[in-house]
Amino acid sequence: EKALEISRRVAEEVEKAISGIAGTREAGEVVGMGKDGTPTKRIDKLAEQAALRVLGEYNVTVVSEEVGVTGEGDVYVALDPIDGTFNAEKGVPIYSVTLLFSKSRKLGDAFFGYVKNLATGEEYYSDGVKSYRNGKEIRASSTESLRCNAIVYYPNRDLPFRRVRIFGASSLEICYVADGRFDCFIDLRKGENGRGFLRVYDISASLFIAKNAGARVSSLDGDDIWEKEIAMDERFRIVVSGEKIHDRLIEML
Ligand code: IPD
Ligand code: CA
Ligand code: CA
Repeated sequence: EKALEISRRVAEEVEKAISGIAGTREAGEVVGMGKDGTPTKRIDKLAEQAALRVLGEYNVTVVSEEVGVTGEGDVYVALDPIDGTFNAEKGVPIYSVTLLFSKSRKLGDAFFGYVKNLATGEEYYSDGVKSYRNGKEIRASSTESLRCNAIVYYPNRDLPFRRVRIFGASSLEICYVADGRFDCFIDLRKGENGRGFLRVYDISASLFIAKNAGARVSSLDGDDIWEKEIAMDERFRIVVSGEKIHDRLIEML
């Protein structure tokens, strides 16, 4: 599968580009403003440049956090060169490079998703049929209980969960639901106009991986998200969970 090869090359180049500065003060220096409207740190810039050098060899349109939209191929790639910049900057080993490949602008036309933890080397991907972690097939949780293990941004009221965690790299956190380590991922944050905070390049590869591992994915209201576009201005408020608790979660939230 070509998309896997390309993703691995991107990951390798990003890894090389940031290996000297991850966890250093230099990593966190602000070097500009991203097209997403948030500051670009040096580590973001170096990672993105490395990723785009590889993707530039192919006929693709890339939608990426710092540069915005580049290229004009029919295949769309949603790219976050570093998801979890704070962790990367501080040397907390939970940050990733993540890419989603789609046949068109539509998320629903996705055909390959890739997430790699750059600190640990843990690699997730999905070919649209199954999903894998380090080459082994993964399945989402089959728990029926809401007294489960949850990742929640942010637990602002009484929730029934047994454990709540926040790791600061949503691409990986959603993969932790895809592989059953956690039972659900919920983002309750509300920004301007009631929109969420997560952008398409943060989470779309992980959503694809979760879906193909048997998890259910929807907006906070229970709506389908696959009609959305791979575009800079999309925002998501998201629930990803094992299939048996999804309806009850949506009702409760
Ligand atoms: C951030 C991470 C984090 C989420 C933020 C994102 P970044 O991405 O995914 O988990 O809570 O909303 O912006 O800025 O590190 O690429
Ligand atoms: Ca991100
Ligand atoms: Ca980023």
